[in-house]
Amino acid sequence: MSDSTKTVIVTGGVGGLGSVMCEKFAEAGNRVYALDLDKEKGESMEVRMREKGYDFSFIQMDLTSEEDWAKAVASIVRNVNSIDVLINNAGINIRKPIEEMNIDEWNTMMRVNTGSVFLGCKYVIPVMKEQHDGVIINMSSVCGLVGHKYTPEAYTASKGAVTMLTKAVASRYAQFGIRSNSIHPSTVDTPLVQKLFENPERKAERLGEVPLGRLCSADDVANAAVFLASEKASFINGLAMSVDGGVTCY
Ligand SMILES: NC(=O)c1ccc[n+]([C@@H]2O[C@H](COP(=O)([O-])OP(=O)(O)OC[C@H]3O[C@@H](n4cnc5c(N)ncnc54)[C@H](O)[C@@H]3O)[C@@H](O)[C@H]2O)c1
Repeated sequence: MSDSTKTVIVTGGVGGLGSVMCEKFAEAGNRVYALDLDKEKGESMEVRMREKGYDFSFIQMDLTSEEDWAKAVASIVRNVNSIDVLINNAGINIRKPIEEMNIDEWNTMMRVNTGSVFLGCKYVIPVMKEQHDGVIINMSSVCGLVGHKYTPEAYTASKGAVTMLTKAVASRYAQFGIRSNSIHPSTVDTPLVQKLFENPERKAERLGEVPLGRLCSADDVANAAVFLASEKASFINGLAMSVDGGVTCY
């Protein structure tokens, strides 16, 4: 895909990581759509971004609903006639080990973390096929690559599924000009994590596992997404890209 103005969808686009990715793509002159449940945050972000002169729109939806995906994609295509980049970023974490988690919580994790990626691909791929051009970037985690003792098993399972869904899409749809890659951040410095770090033990645990000795920043992740979406990454397909300071090296 060329590096001229693109239409970029970011799911979970008003959250900690999503909002930084939206900002990064918008400030580079792209047309950005944030898809998210959070109406209040989404609407205020839309005002803020437009005040900066960015081409940014918020669409409120439930990313686990087929109906909502069908409507959102139809409305974007009606407005701008293309979708160049899909970033399936939304995710949740119910922080319970397997012994304490019930099946409804497991299903919720799978529905949001994996189901929303499946639906995003399902509804956007036909548009990209028609263009014979497009980039899909799925937000997995270091937990999509290794078992991680501080993380709920359900989260790890859901992110592992994202890793392989990405590769499966990459192998089937490359023939239609579509590249699909996943990003695997270690613990990102977001407000949620800062809250976790109020507990000094948790903080030491998390920092202790990073060879580079610092947390991942939202900018580190957004820079990786910008690269994967760009022409510079035109031969990169099916990659599970760690952005983790070396956490998964040992
Ligand atoms: N923060 C980290 O340390 C970290 C590390 C590795 C991977 N990740 C992954 O990065 C992604 C973003 O994480 P974050 O820290 O920005 O999370 P966040 O909680 O700040 O943002 C997630 C966003 O997704 C939205 N969302 C959740 N369920 C939804 C649904 N059903 N429909 C519509 N919107 C929905 C929320 O409203 C929220 O705005 C997630 O997939 C997460 O698993 C995060």
